[in-house]
Order: sequence, then C-alpha cells, then structure tokens
Amino acid sequence: MAIGISLNGKRALVTGGASGIGATTAGILRDLGATVAIADISEEGLATSSAQLGDCPTFVCDVAEEPQVEATTSAAADALGGLDIAVNAAGVVDEVKYALERDMEPWQRIMDVNFRGTYQVCRAAARIMVAQGSGSIVNIASVNGPGGWPRRTAYGPSKAAIIALTRELACEWGDRGVRVNAVGPGYIATPMIQGLVDVGKVDTDRLNNRTPLGRLGTPTEVGQAIAFLASDMASYITGETLFVDGGWMAYGGAGDVKTF
Ligand SMILES: NC(=O)c1ccc[n+]([C@@H]2O[C@H](COP(=O)([O-])OP(=O)(O)OC[C@H]3O[C@@H](n4cnc5c(N)ncnc54)[C@H](O)[C@@H]3O)[C@@H](O)[C@H]2O)c1
Repeated sequence: MAIGISLNGKRALVTGGASGIGATTAGILRDLGATVAIADISEEGLATSSAQLGDCPTFVCDVAEEPQVEATTSAAADALGGLDIAVNAAGVVDEVKYALERDMEPWQRIMDVNFRGTYQVCRAAARIMVAQGSGSIVNIASVNGPGGWPRRTAYGPSKAAIIALTRELACEWGDRGVRVNAVGPGYIATPMIQGLVDVGKVDTDRLNNRTPLGRLGTPTEVGQAIAFLASDMASYITGETLFVDGGWMAYGGAGDVKTF
C-alpha cells in the first residue's frame, strides 16, 4: 500500500486564501490533488492568489457576515461540484492594547472575524458535508488560545474559543461523517506577523530565543499539518488541536530556551 497524503478528487474551500497561511495552504491542497476555491475580504489579494494558484474560483467574503458566508460557501460548492474540505484561515491580529485601555468596538470586531467567522463557515460547510455524509474541517487556533499574553484580550480568547468550538462540533457531527480539527500555530512568518514587527510590537529575536526549534515557522509548515488533518490519513482524528509551534507549547521554563 502506498503511504502518503492524497487529496485526489477532494473539493476544498479555504478562507483567508488571499494571504499567508491560507494562500499557502490552498497551494498545498491543490498540489496534493484537490480542486480549490478561495475566499477572502481582500479582492486584490484574491486576484493575486488565484493567479498563483492557476486561476481558481475566488469569492469576496467577510466571514463575520453570515449572509456572505452562506452565499460564498454554497457558490463555492457549486463551482467545485461539492465540498469535502473547509479550511478556516481568515483571521485578524489583536490591536495589542491593555485591557483597561481598549474600546469595545474593535474588540468585538476581532471576536467577530476570528471566532464568529470560523463558526459561521463551519456551519455553512457542514450543511453540505452532513448531507453528503462526509467532510473534514480544519480551523486555525494559536498558541495564544491556551497561553495567556498581556495585551491580547480579544485575539487570545477568540483562539481559545476556536479550540473549544472545534471540540464541540467534532462531537456534534462525528456520527454524520464530518471531522473537525484545528491547528495551533506558534509564530509564523506571514504578513500578519510582519505587520507587528514593522510597528515594533513583536521582536523576532526574542521569539526565536523562546522557541525550542530556534526560529519562526513557515506558512508551508502549517499548511502541511492542515493538509494532513484534512486528508483521509487523519480519518480517526477529530476534535483535536495540533500545535505547529516549533515546541513553543512544550517549553515551560523562564526566559530564553538556550540560556535557562
Ligand atoms: N502568522 C502567525 O504567526 C499566526 C499564528 C497563530 C495563528 N495564526 C492564524 O492563522 C490565520 C492566518 O493568518 P496569517 O498569518 O496567514 O495572516 P494574513 O494576514 O497573512 O492572512 C489573513 C487573511 O485573512 C483575511 N481576512 C481578514 N479579515 C477577514 C474577514 N473578515 N473575512 C475574510 N477574510 C479576512 C485577510 O485579508 C488575509 O488575506 C489567522 O487566523 C491567524 O490568527 C497566525
């Protein structure tokens, strides 16, 4: 028997497909044999990403808006001839402000995009998957879900909620043939993190020193884990969050890994 991940014949929708982890994951799924559609709030980013993917169906969609999610998911399934895989890679970073100094509106928007958006895409995808009796959904959490950071009181809770949601939906849809898992990236070199580096809110040297593998991850390393969870190779895995973090979650010491 040949061992390896094949997504031949699978039809996949990737949100956040215009950039970073989502765009890279769409390419990996396609390279493994899937037909792929991408959705994102950025029309310009979708055009670039689609050109790189070799002209795939694209959908402009704000995942926080339920009608847009419902319309996008069913249009993607129509374009692909069905839906076997949904990857929730759309997300926004925190404002990185102290709790006592935050306004509720931006806080709510982060929760709406990251958590509500993931929930809405899961539901829209599962309507199709439950009806066909099979499907695999992969959400994106973060080491900031279980871990506490100062100044991340929207982002961290949104990611913790995604981990809980992944478990809940896995239990609800398991006997309907639909698996729901998540990946929990550590710090990954994407435009999202570069944006924080550029404004001095993240220091990559410190992150490297805090990470057992000594470096940031790549979008490809996260996309490969997503492809595995989405594939039939993970057929008995559901409700899990797989951390793709260079050992970030494993480290419990004080300060730098190398000097502790
Ligand atoms: N990069 C990291 O270090 C890291 C770590 C942990 C988790 N994550 C998560 O991975 C996911 C992807 O992040 P990334 O690093 O690739 O970031 P990114 O900024 O490169 O990509 C995020 C994409 O989501 C899209 N998006 C934002 N709001 C949207 C909305 N309302 N509707 C639809 N699309 C929207 C953006 O346009 C963008 O294309 C996010 O959920 C993020 O929280 C990233």
